[in-house]
Amino acid sequence: MTRYDLALIGFGGVNRALAQLIAGRGDELAAELGFALRVVAISDLRAGSLVRADGIDLAPLLAGEPAFAGLPGGSADPRTEQVIRGVPCDIVAEATFTNPADGEPALSHVRWALEAGKHVCTTNKGPVALHGRALRRLAAEHGVSFECEGSVLSGTPVLRTARRLLAGLRISGVEGIMNGTSNYILGRLEDGVDFPEAVKEAQALGYAEADPTADVEGFDVQLKVMILANEVLGAGLRRDDVSVRGIARLTPADMRDAAARGLRWKLVGSAALREDGTVDARVAPVALPVEHPLASVSGPANAVSFHTDLLGAVTVSGPGAGRVETAYALLSDIIAIHQRHAVLEESLHG
Ligand SMILES: NC(=O)c1ccc[n+]([C@@H]2O[C@H](COP(=O)([O-])OP(=O)(O)OC[C@H]3O[C@@H](n4cnc5c(N)ncnc54)[C@H](OP(=O)(O)O)[C@@H]3O)[C@@H](O)[C@H]2O)c1
Repeated sequence: MTRYDLALIGFGGVNRALAQLIAGRGDELAAELGFALRVVAISDLRAGSLVRADGIDLAPLLAGEPAFAGLPGGSADPRTEQVIRGVPCDIVAEATFTNPADGEPALSHVRWALEAGKHVCTTNKGPVALHGRALRRLAAEHGVSFECEGSVLSGTPVLRTARRLLAGLRISGVEGIMNGTSNYILGRLEDGVDFPEAVKEAQALGYAEADPTADVEGFDVQLKVMILANEVLGAGLRRDDVSVRGIARLTPADMRDAAARGLRWKLVGSAALREDGTVDARVAPVALPVEHPLASVSGPANAVSFHTDLLGAVTVSGPGAGRVETAYALLSDIIAIHQRHAVLEESLHG
């Protein structure tokens, strides 16, 4: 059976959930998917690095806060570049923090891996939003894949739906509710709760970060709009090209007024093709008619609608975050890599 050796870069919520999936369901997945997964290297700022050519026993690492120093093949030093470039493996799973300014250090991680002829899957919005096209070119030059399903709506298949299931349709626009925290807060404003109190509730429930700026001011959605515009509509947008307005000025009174007119306020990220082929992209609160496909998306749920010529609006809805949900995005990327390269092998060798 085919086996893919993996290097995990970053060992926080997402890559640990992927490790959990491999440790707990690896045999079942291999029987269903026709390939096995083995982790041969991990690099993490806090835990250090661990390299085992014969495969890492994952279960003991998942019991508590891992520290790799002292383990055979382990070191307190993350040795990130050495692990990515030097350790023989097939796929690098990049899940370090998102940097919206320049995409680093994840951008370098992805480049090193592609240059070394390794496939990459990532959940990190930074490199995809800011450098997706260049990274895809680099992957093609080295005959490998660059997959990034988890960069928009975690494991909910948005990018793959557009590329695969909507193939043959002309997509003229994309719009979505792509931030569960702000959507939850809007729901609480509808319940009459004031904005600061709704933010506190979202933090207590683990939806919002200690600093909620990126969520409520729309900057998280801005990166996702860039990804959708660039990956689905073929635009080459930079951050400045996507105007951003968040939800912080909305009040329970605005919600009541909208409801009286058959409308619901939502934080909508959108990108639409103009007549001249350029793309108009923005993030802003929009009062949607209640019958709009996105108006009924409530609480932390997310959804993206594609506007197509032959089907009209096609909407994909599901979780937009969560460590397990996002780890599934990495698994779905690995499945895509397997399918693509199995077809290539077949066509090369009959
Ligand atoms: N969790 C979700 O629901 C979700 C959903 C969609 C997308 N994502 C994206 O997926 C990525 C991972 O998310 P997460 O929730 O797993 O984040 P996380 O829990 O913060 O994990 C990131 C890990 O990467 C480590 N790290 C940072 N820089 C590194 C470097 N240069 N070399 C090696 N390790 C490094 C961090 O160490 P330190 O803690 O010491 O810094 C941390 O352990 C992020 O980009 C996030 O935006 C997450």
